[in-house]
Amino acid sequence: MKRLVTLNDWTAEDINEVLSLADTDLTNQLHGKMAANLFFEPSTRTRCSFEIAEHQLGMARFQLDEAGASVQKGESLYDTSRTLESLGVDALVIRHQEKAFYEQLEGISIPVINAGDGAGDHPTQTLLDLFTIVKEFGSIQGVRVCMCGDIRHSRVAHSNKQALERLGAEILTSGPEEWRMPEWDVPHLPMDEAVKEADVLMMLRVQEERHETSWHRGGYLEKHGLTLERARNMQSHAVIMHPAPVNRGVEMADSLVEHSKSRIYTQMKNGVSVRKAVLAVCLQKKGEKRFEAIS
Ligand code: CP
Repeated sequence: MKRLVTLNDWTAEDINEVLSLADTDLTNQLHGKMAANLFFEPSTRTRCSFEIAEHQLGMARFQLDEAGASVQKGESLYDTSRTLESLGVDALVIRHQEKAFYEQLEGISIPVINAGDGAGDHPTQTLLDLFTIVKEFGSIQGVRVCMCGDIRHSRVAHSNKQALERLGAEILTSGPEEWRMPEWDVPHLPMDEAVKEADVLMMLRVQEERHETSWHRGGYLEKHGLTLERARNMQSHAVIMHPAPVNRGVEMADSLVEHSKSRIYTQMKNGVSVRKAVLAVCLQKKGEKRFEAIS
């Protein structure tokens, strides 16, 4: 059994196994297993796609929200998880506001799947983004991905950069200087240039809830965002991605969200297949190859 808390712990082979399995029919492959979905931060896509994935895999499943759980009485995340393990749950899917919350859960022996930890990581979003890029370009190798906008506060950007580089993508960034990651040591371009260079424009939501100082959206789209005019300068094969939710009219023009160049809804759809594959890989016994990839 395997856990997925950060892709830093996963090899390229592990990642490729999920990407291959996501293309196969896993219907009812985890019949008899049970997942608990613990969401201590809001979520629509991750939460619903895990539920749908678990349903399609034939798993029993339930949601545990902060409001209705004994964490309200001060019970720790470890004790909550240990309790669910003792009740017979086979896998824990957890979204938590605390960065690296999973470090508290070293003693839990069932798989823990990180569904987003504060400004830390979002490994299943990364896997679905990788899957979407492979479907579009046939490979990650050599694909030029520009991450645009609020990079500093984005767990998706941090997760994706590491995995994309490991699989051979070229990373660029664009956006306000104060949200840039200079320690990444990658080219940082004005948006007018970025749109011409990128194969993938990975737009990022402005994460106001994680900002230390107040931020004013006036003029952001025109200065740093993806306007219709800029989108016309994209290469013919290039695509737009965004983990969503999108601030329509802020980081990108409203009409580009459902534009023919947008893969935003494809990413969401791919999220179900990828999360099924993650659950399958995490719940297979060590050395066991229950799920053979069919290309
Ligand atoms: N992309 C993403 O994680 O969306 P949710 O916050 O709605 O799950």
